[in-house]
Amino acid sequence: MNLISSLDLDLPKIRKIFSIADSFGIARAIKMPCTGKIMALLFEKPSTRTRVSFEAAMSQLGGSSIYIDSSTSQLSRGETLQDTARVLSSYVDVISARMYRDTDIRELAAGASVPVINALTDLEHPCQALSDVYTIEKAFGSLKGLRIAFVGDIAANTANSLMITASMLGAELSLIGPTGYSPNTRYVEAASRHSMVEITNDLKTGLSGCSVIYTDTFISMGQEKQAAQRRKTFSGYQVNGKALGYAKKGAKVMHCLPAHRGEEITSDVLDGRSSLAWEQAANKLPIEKAILLYLLSEAK
Ligand code: CP
Ligand code: NVA
Repeated sequence: MNLISSLDLDLPKIRKIFSIADSFGIARAIKMPCTGKIMALLFEKPSTRTRVSFEAAMSQLGGSSIYIDSSTSQLSRGETLQDTARVLSSYVDVISARMYRDTDIRELAAGASVPVINALTDLEHPCQALSDVYTIEKAFGSLKGLRIAFVGDIAANTANSLMITASMLGAELSLIGPTGYSPNTRYVEAASRHSMVEITNDLKTGLSGCSVIYTDTFISMGQEKQAAQRRKTFSGYQVNGKALGYAKKGAKVMHCLPAHRGEEITSDVLDGRSSLAWEQAANKLPIEKAILLYLLSEAK
């Protein structure tokens, strides 16, 4: 099995991953079920959290990792993704890849005979969404009936994956972004099959009744050329103290990080009592462990 899209998951699979995370996630070198296993991390884009949490996870499970910056691999000289995946599969047990185009990770998976994990593409960030909902469940006990707002770039990879994963667990979604700017219809439709998804450009209306406010950068990796335009477009959608005041009392704020302080979120909110961003980042470690164990056990 691969984890390319949040749509590859269902409720039983999410619950299984959470139960592995609960039992294994915090253990350091107590059991080493991945002894002798090797993970390749093939990355086209920068990463701090996803790369390090996957490498630390594999190491704590007894295995090892090889990081490949795709620009220094033969991919940069035209070797195909399928040929690359075929060869990597004869050396390693699992491939975690961060790519620009979602079609490229699917191409990679088509050539691989070992599990392939999406460590972020322009379209999705399924591992992030799993640690996000895991964090929300730890904070609130359950996502059932909880209203989660995604504010700002509602067409971002993180929004797509969060929508799917959170709706599977019963959360309602409120997508809040500028007029004329739409979320990805395919993801909205898929999430709507599980729960309610509302879309608005009004921050106050959209945040009303929300227990979680989620935001992400206004300028995702690969969108640097549109930075000035995007800053302008999203400027009214900053998660700050005023925005927090529109949400339900006791609401929590989340951010996948890295944050751009003063742009999509203010420092007082990110560092304040309502912030779950740091727990969210920390939970990437147990969740990456659980993803690895789940996929490697399925691959047997
Ligand atoms: N949240 C996340 O994926 O962070 P990195 O880009 O640092 O991996
Ligand atoms: N939407 C962001 C997420 C970073 C983890 C990006 O793609 O750059």
